[in-house]
Amino acid sequence: MNRRDFARLLALGSAAPFLTPGTAWPRPVDLPPTPASPDERFWNAVRDQFVMPKELTMLNAANLCPSSAPVLETMYRMTKDMDQDPSQDNRAKLGDGRENTRKLLAEFLRVTPEEIVITRNTSESNNLVSTGIDLKAGDEVLLTADNHPSNHTAWQQKAKRFGFTVKDIPVPNPHPGFEYYVEAFRKAITPQTKVISLTHLTSTVGDLFPAKEICRLARERGILTLVDGAQSFGLFDVDLSDMQPDFYSGSAHKWPCGPKENGVLYINKNAQPKIWASIFSAYPGRVGISKTFEGFGQRDEPAMIAFGEALTFQTKIGRALVEKRSRELTTALVEGLKKIDGVKIWTSPDASRRAAVLSFQPGNLDVRKLSLALYQKDKIGCATRGGEDRPGLRFSPHFYNTHADVDRTIAAVKRYIATGV
Ligand SMILES: Cc1ncc(COP(=O)(O)O)c(C=O)c1O
Repeated sequence: MNRRDFARLLALGSAAPFLTPGTAWPRPVDLPPTPASPDERFWNAVRDQFVMPKELTMLNAANLCPSSAPVLETMYRMTKDMDQDPSQDNRAKLGDGRENTRKLLAEFLRVTPEEIVITRNTSESNNLVSTGIDLKAGDEVLLTADNHPSNHTAWQQKAKRFGFTVKDIPVPNPHPGFEYYVEAFRKAITPQTKVISLTHLTSTVGDLFPAKEICRLARERGILTLVDGAQSFGLFDVDLSDMQPDFYSGSAHKWPCGPKENGVLYINKNAQPKIWASIFSAYPGRVGISKTFEGFGQRDEPAMIAFGEALTFQTKIGRALVEKRSRELTTALVEGLKKIDGVKIWTSPDASRRAAVLSFQPGNLDVRKLSLALYQKDKIGCATRGGEDRPGLRFSPHFYNTHADVDRTIAAVKRYIATGV
């Protein structure tokens, strides 16, 4: 089945109404074409493509995003098709669909399908890299100091096992600027440095790192780079042909609004001879690195196909526009929070050093209680950060949010800071 045939199959399915009792929802209309200057009406139409009740404001994209109706419908339709006829003959088309998603991922990241591995999530992608590169005593890995455990702890644990060393580049607050980090890496690199690993956009306070410049610095010195894109994939209009990392990781269930337990690992063709696959089993992918690296046994192919649908959905809206909208809503939140006495914002005041992850300390309020009150009384969902390190609440708005969500949220935080929780 070629790509056009597959697209036709998907379209055919979507003509059939999704009317299974208990699983149907009123999706009023298909998403209209993106206007030249999208207004709140358009963004409300985008919001209508999600099954969250209208009164729920979710500001937690950095953790988990809902899937849009077309993604849910694709997943249901393909799963139903498979379960109605689980024969291998019927399931052959699912393999075509999986390869179609690989092509869509390659287009989305502006690389080739031969460089794409479809994994379970960013955690798996990061670990496939830290396990797959030959490193030994005397070798050194440089890390930015603020990473998810799947990046940071993973390197530290594997250093214990294989004998290499790991060195952190400090991450001061507030964000000291891109040049600071390029210089910090330049100074820290030694002849022993074999890998540089960093997070593109941190999940803690939303610091943006100069990934392209750091990758260039590393490349010029023959050092491999892993860019953890969990918080940039599906938020930014990421162009890996420009960034040129050796490895880039991401999850479908975050900013792409795709199905759960799907992810991506990009492996630059120049880096492919330098990494071992960790898992060998049946059912690998059909092209390039996926033929050796993606043999993970039987997979949830309907979910993999729905992953492609999520990428198509964002592409249809306009990827640069998705990024612009999320950044604009974040700036509106920053501006609103700045006016509330007692709020300390950890995220950079410079919009070019942040994106759509915003953390702040809400005066002396107990953040657990505040987050619970926001959710239970105001129907606003967000994340909390406990402990000593930049504690507080985290808001991460996405393209399904509206300015009304922002206004409601600012008013609620202001009210709780004035009255307590
Ligand atoms: C920067 C970063 N890397 C990796 C991950 C892990 O993502 P997943 O749980 O989808 O594997 C997260 C999750 O929040 C993250 O923020």
